[in-house]
Amino acid sequence: MIIAIDGPAASGKGTLSRRLAEEYGFHHLDTGLTYRATAKALIDAGLPLDDEKVAEKVAKGVELAGLDRDILSSHEIGEAASKIAVMPSVRRALVEAQRDFSQREPGTVLDGRDIGTVVCPNAQVKLYVTASPEVRARRRYDEILAKGGMADYAAIFADVKKRDERDMGRADSPLKPAEDAYLLDTSEMSIEAAFQAAKVVIDAAL
Ligand code: C5P
Repeated sequence: MIIAIDGPAASGKGTLSRRLAEEYGFHHLDTGLTYRATAKALIDAGLPLDDEKVAEKVAKGVELAGLDRDILSSHEIGEAASKIAVMPSVRRALVEAQRDFSQREPGTVLDGRDIGTVVCPNAQVKLYVTASPEVRARRRYDEILAKGGMADYAAIFADVKKRDERDMGRADSPLKPAEDAYLLDTSEMSIEAAFQAAKVVIDAAL
């Protein structure tokens, strides 16, 4: 059983995926972390972010077991990840590891940008989670303030829009809903409501 969850940055898909994995006792992979880990390894080694051969080699060495969002959450790493995510050979290497993961028993939840379209086109359940750019920027802003940080809403909003353009506009595996995906717009929904809606869709497929 594979549950594929796609959507743009800050749509709430990460939180939703974790809750669903816990609910059904499935393994969860946040595939954004594989792109982030590749980007961080390049940055830490002082390697360029625009050399596809080098980035591919680093991507092949990424270990799924050691992925930790706390270490990989910075804005700089997110930006770098979306730059190397346009490279087809980097995507091929990471998608292979993601597909291996998707086969784990008793089931898996994978979230990202291309799970329902490219990584697991045969997933039994596909959800496309979205929210307006304003709502997504606001959530990220509130999240930073809640952690005691300083945030600039206008800068976060600009960043959300830029990331959308890059993720939706790239030639290889652009972000878009799979034809058979269930669309979940969380703009006016609490996390709890989104979770309940997702559960209805999943239970119908079980
Ligand atoms: O989801 P997250 O913000 O951590 O992802 C970082 C970047 O990795 C995204 O902006 C996107 O460019 C890339 N990504 C991707 N395909 C995925 C997951 C993430 O291209 N399945």
